[in-house]
Amino acid sequence: MLPGGVLARYGHLLNLPPHTQPVTLLEGGTPLIPAPRLARELAEGMSLWIKYEGLNPTGSFKDRGMTAAISEAAGRGARTVICASTGNTAASAAAYAARAGMKCIVLIPEGKVALGKLAGALAYGATVVQIEGSFDDALHLVVEVTRKYPIALVNSLNPYRIEGQKTAAFEICDDLGTAPDWLCLPVGNAGNITAYWAGFRQYHERQGTGLPRLLGVQAAGAAPLVLGHPVDRPETVATAIRIGRPARGEEALQAAAESGGRIIAVTDEEILRMQRLLAQTEGIWVEPASAAGLAGLAAEIAAGRLRPRGQRIVAVCTGHGLKDPDIVSRSFVQPLVLPPRLDVLEEVILKP
Ligand code: F0G
Repeated sequence: MLPGGVLARYGHLLNLPPHTQPVTLLEGGTPLIPAPRLARELAEGMSLWIKYEGLNPTGSFKDRGMTAAISEAAGRGARTVICASTGNTAASAAAYAARAGMKCIVLIPEGKVALGKLAGALAYGATVVQIEGSFDDALHLVVEVTRKYPIALVNSLNPYRIEGQKTAAFEICDDLGTAPDWLCLPVGNAGNITAYWAGFRQYHERQGTGLPRLLGVQAAGAAPLVLGHPVDRPETVATAIRIGRPARGEEALQAAAESGGRIIAVTDEEILRMQRLLAQTEGIWVEPASAAGLAGLAAEIAAGRLRPRGQRIVAVCTGHGLKDPDIVSRSFVQPLVLPPRLDVLEEVILKP
C-alpha cells in the first residue's frame, strides 16, 4: 500500500464533510521516541516518550490540522485561505495552499516570528503581512476579513483543524496500546490541547484505550489560562506561544479539568534549560515552545505535585529546533575560534 497522510489513515474517524478533497504532504506518523536518559534526569521509575511532531512535513504539528482544513476548503472550491500566526501555522497553511493551488495570506506579529517559520511562509509563496501588534490583534483581523469576504479561515477556530489534529492522540494510543497516564504539552491558542482531548476521548469510547491526564503548559509571560484573565502584552522567548487571548481557552481549561490534570506556567529560563537538556540527553532538538511541556513536567515533579513513579508519560514536542536557529546563540555554548595549529587544537580537545 502506498503511504498516506492522516486523512488516509484516520479519515473514517474524522468529522469532515463529503466534499473534502485530500490535499496531503503525507503528514503524521511521527515517532514516539523513548527518552530514558531524560527520564532519569527528572525522576526515578517513570517511562517517558517524546511525540516528535517537529518531524511533520513543514516542521510542526500544524500539518495534521492543516491537511484537514485545506482539504475541506479545496473541496468546496475556496480559492484563498488566510490565517493569523506566530509562525508555524503560517508555514503550514502556505505549504498546503501551494499544494492545492490556492492563494494564502498570513498575518504575523512584526518582529516576533522565528526565522525558520517566516522563511517557510515566504518560500511556499504566501502573501506575508507583518502586523504592528500581537498575534491576538492579527487573529482579530483575519476573523473580520473572513466575515466580509469569501476567504477560508484556517486558524484552529476552523473545526476541521481540530478534526485533523486529533490524529496525534490516535497515533499515541495505537503506538502504546493505551493512552498514557499523563500527556504534557505547550499551550498557546489552545487548539492542540483541545484536539488531543477530543481525540483521546473518541478513541476511548471506541476501543477503551483509557484517558490521560493533561498537563498544559504556558509561558509565564503569556499565561492567560493560569492567571484567569487575558494578557494584553504577552512576552516570552517561546514566540510560538506568545498569545494573550487564546481562542480556545475555555475548552482548554475544561479539557484539563475533565482529565484530572491542569494548566500551569513555566519561566523562559525553565523552557530554555529544558530545550538544552532534551537536546543534550536525547539528541532531540526542538524549538523553545516545544520544550514547555517537558519544562512543566519537570517543575511539577520537583514541587512534588506529580508523582512520576510507575507513570507512563508522553511529552508532545510540537516544532523542530531548526525553526528557531537564532535562539541557539542566546542559550547554548558558542563555538570556539582557534588558529589553524595542531598544538592549540590539542590543548583544547585533550583538556580533561
Ligand atoms: N508549539 C508550537 C511550536 C506552536 O507553534 C504552537 C502554536 C503551540 C505549541 C501551541 O499550540 O496554539 O494549539 O495551543 N502556534 C500557533 C501558530 C499559534 O500560529 O503557529 P496551540
